[in-house]
Amino acid sequence: MDFDLSEEQVMIRRMVRDFGEREIVPVIREYDRAARFPWEIIAKMGPLGLMGAPVPEAYGGMGLDYLTYAIVVEELGWADTSLRTTVSVHSSLGELSILRYGTEEQRQKYLPRLASGEIIASFSLTEPNVGSDASGMQTIAEPDGDGWILNGSKMWVTSGGICGLAIVFAQTNRSLGTKGITAFIVEPDTPGFRREEMHGKLGLRSSSTAEFVFDDCHIPGENLLGKVGDGFKIAMASLDNGRLGIAAGCVGLAQACIDASVKYARERKQFDRPIGSFQLIQDMIVQMVMETEAARFLVYRAAHLKDKGARNTRECSIAKLYASEVAKRAADRAIQIHGSYGYSDEYPVERFYRDARADTIYEGSSEIQKLIIGRHTLGLDAFV
Ligand code: CAA
Repeated sequence: MDFDLSEEQVMIRRMVRDFGEREIVPVIREYDRAARFPWEIIAKMGPLGLMGAPVPEAYGGMGLDYLTYAIVVEELGWADTSLRTTVSVHSSLGELSILRYGTEEQRQKYLPRLASGEIIASFSLTEPNVGSDASGMQTIAEPDGDGWILNGSKMWVTSGGICGLAIVFAQTNRSLGTKGITAFIVEPDTPGFRREEMHGKLGLRSSSTAEFVFDDCHIPGENLLGKVGDGFKIAMASLDNGRLGIAAGCVGLAQACIDASVKYARERKQFDRPIGSFQLIQDMIVQMVMETEAARFLVYRAAHLKDKGARNTRECSIAKLYASEVAKRAADRAIQIHGSYGYSDEYPVERFYRDARADTIYEGSSEIQKLIIGRHTLGLDAFV
């Protein structure tokens, strides 16, 4: 077993960390306060390849393997979770789904624009009445000449308010259950498509989260993604990628909690000594370090399995479950270490805490991850 990263991986990690320190960390609090999407940062990420990290060079991306891509996402998560969320949905759920299931024509048409950051991708499965039970979706697509007519609504769509491409799942034959779901590529200027930004989120404030409404929205036949009836499998396999991305981002976020806490605990003095010299503070920091290291290895293992082409659903769920819970605990401890200062946005840990709360919910809650891991372990399915 080789625990060393390659020279290229070390260099890419350094490049993303430098970018985060220089272009994200100094300004992101203001974007968070204003709940403003950071287009200016995205514009700088495109030329560095960070909007198309896992996309092959032939389509304008960096052509990174999963492990190196996970390192990129980890470092973005270290800098900011809103931005990391935008990028990991864009790449893990958007670009990789088009790469894997799209026609050559769709790849040529969309991947270069996505990889450059000219347009951002979204992925919409969840609906007002459908979350964990994704196959119960109510949005329908009916054949219409050479295309389809879409009716229904989607909710909690990351990047929904700003995306230039949406992957949308709909029922095309309800009687077939999960085999009656189909995936479509929707361009936001399509007549019959409306979107509205959702406000009032606890965290992830500088990312976009929107609601979609489809009202007799005509989708051309060439915008079918994969085959009719393959939509649920596309969604589930794409979510394996998405969950790995979240897990990697959570490792970065937990590391940011450690770094902020170590700095504060070394500087802040009480009883005439740095608070970091107290055993109870050290205990909290050590718990954070130990759990973050363990989460990092789970993420790298899942990425390694993906790179080998081996099955990875269970490992992606384990990584997502563990890393998201670790990030949540790390952010909680970071606030505790910062005391009252941690409770205000003078220090970043307050934002880390709000942002971390989403990680155990989106792209499959911790409870869903446990049931996925459970059925792989016991061979008994909680969902039937
Ligand atoms: N990869 C490939 N295929 C898969 C798969 C995977 N990871 N998981 C399941 N499938 C296949 C199964 O093999 C099965 O195929 P067959 O019928 O040929 O055997 C088919 O898909 C149906 O699978 P299940 O029986 O597991 O379906 P289910 O209805 O029991 O699913 C579930 C259960 C795992 C809970 C699933 O519904 C789930 O993951 N729910 C959570 C949904 C979720 O994560 N939502 C967040 C979406 S993110 C979003 O919308 C917003 C955003 O901005 C990103």
